[in-house]
Amino acid sequence: MSWNRASSLAAFARLWGSLSFRLTAWYALAALTLVFLATASLYLVLTTELERSTDLFLADKLHVLRTMLRDRPNDWDALREEVELETAARRYEHFYIRLLDEHNRPVLTTPGMTDQLDLNQLARQTRDRPDRPIAMFGKRGQSFRVARATALVGTPPTQTDTIQIAIDLSEENGLLARFRIWFWGILIAALAVCPVAGFEIARRGTRPLAEMAATTRRITSNNLRERILTEGYPSELASLAATFNKMLDRLEDSFERISRFSGDIAHDLRTPVNNIRGEAEVALARARTIDEYRDVLESCLEEAVRLSELISNLLFLARTESPFTHLNRERVDVSALLGALQEYYEASAAEGGISLTTNVESPVVAELDRTLLQRAVGNLISNAVTHTPPGGSVVLASRVDNSTVCIEVNDTGVGIPPEALPRVFDRFFRVDTSRSQASGGTGLGLAIVQGIMLLHGGRVDIASRVGVGTRVTLRLPALNEGDNNVIPA
Ligand SMILES: Nc1ncnc2c1ncn2[C@@H]1O[C@H](COP(=O)(O)OP(=O)(O)OP(=O)(O)O)[C@@H](O)[C@H]1O
Ligand SMILES: [Mg+2]
Repeated sequence: MSWNRASSLAAFARLWGSLSFRLTAWYALAALTLVFLATASLYLVLTTELERSTDLFLADKLHVLRTMLRDRPNDWDALREEVELETAARRYEHFYIRLLDEHNRPVLTTPGMTDQLDLNQLARQTRDRPDRPIAMFGKRGQSFRVARATALVGTPPTQTDTIQIAIDLSEENGLLARFRIWFWGILIAALAVCPVAGFEIARRGTRPLAEMAATTRRITSNNLRERILTEGYPSELASLAATFNKMLDRLEDSFERISRFSGDIAHDLRTPVNNIRGEAEVALARARTIDEYRDVLESCLEEAVRLSELISNLLFLARTESPFTHLNRERVDVSALLGALQEYYEASAAEGGISLTTNVESPVVAELDRTLLQRAVGNLISNAVTHTPPGGSVVLASRVDNSTVCIEVNDTGVGIPPEALPRVFDRFFRVDTSRSQASGGTGLGLAIVQGIMLLHGGRVDIASRVGVGTRVTLRLPALNEGDNNVIPA
């Protein structure tokens, strides 16, 4: 028994979990309540209006009789007409009147009144409520509305008579009974129709959701092309579908980048490994002199160094992109750091016939990871030196611009063509593959710079003109408010 209850509860919970079911239930409940309230209030209005019109009829009759008794007390024909005959002429509205004299003796009575009503009971019940109609049951159980009133006879009055009046409500009750049947009929019909209509509305309303779910099921990592067609959808669902499609665009883009990246890694790892293998195979093909072996080993070492550089760059890049990477932030004198880097790269710049200078207006401090920033600026200097022909110059600069610390590396090198500029931060991207290969570049330097800047909450911008030179700007958020980025001279 309890298992049955538990399983039906679980089934209901499952049903309630469905949006269509909930919409249907709420719609049916709302529609049924509305139908019930409408018919019930109509019924209420009808009963009160019927009662009011009955009471008005009684009051009207009493008024007529009173006027007659006052103005024409001896016109018995008229009185008899009013009391005995008029009701007989009516088909549906049966009323009964009894006129009693001062000593409570009946003077005139509508025929059949004594058969219908217990007149003693009528007298008792209406005694304390003159002129106020009340409900009463007849001898055969029919409903009556009865009233009692006193009437002055003659002008000036000679005596006071009593009028008892009763109206049979059978016709009205019949009308109300028919109305009640309609009322229940409408309710039962609504009970049958509302859930069906509600279900149809819910089904139509949630159809786009089902279509979206079907499209989503078709999306896999191999099939990211699929999109939801938003035409004809209601605006709320169209915006949901559009948001979903945008997310798919981003996913597709990321997947494409990742697969390109893996392809590039495989390619870049294969080249040095193949070189080492080829050289070793050639060396082992026959006996070699010591010097020849040394040459081969040196060449292998070079390739191994390149390989390990590539791997460490990749690892470093992965680290900069990890959300768990911790920054060792400290107050760093950026101008001093640029000075140190200038000293470090001076020799290689001089070797290429390039002048390397630092241009710092006033010393600048920023809170950042010293090692990472050294690496970022080092990559930029190395790029500038590599791509600047002899006689050119590389200038390092730093300044504070609108609460942003800017570090610039300018060169008068070969520049980057405009079509290549948006891609230089992509991993493994090299403008001229053969030239960069010769200079040993892995194509990861600028991607690393960008990763480091993002870690610091900053950004990197590049501007370049072919044959004129390149300027790379690192922008970092300044120190907390109240701190000063510029050290007083
Ligand atoms: N200052 C510059 N002048 C001209 N071209 C540049 C400059 N800096 C970068 N580039 C171009 O952008 C490409 C990408 O630079 P990036 O530093 O990412 O890679 P790389 O220097 O080739 O290799 P790595 O830095 O990993 O050793 C370079 O191959 C080069 O073509
Ligand atoms: Mg580089």
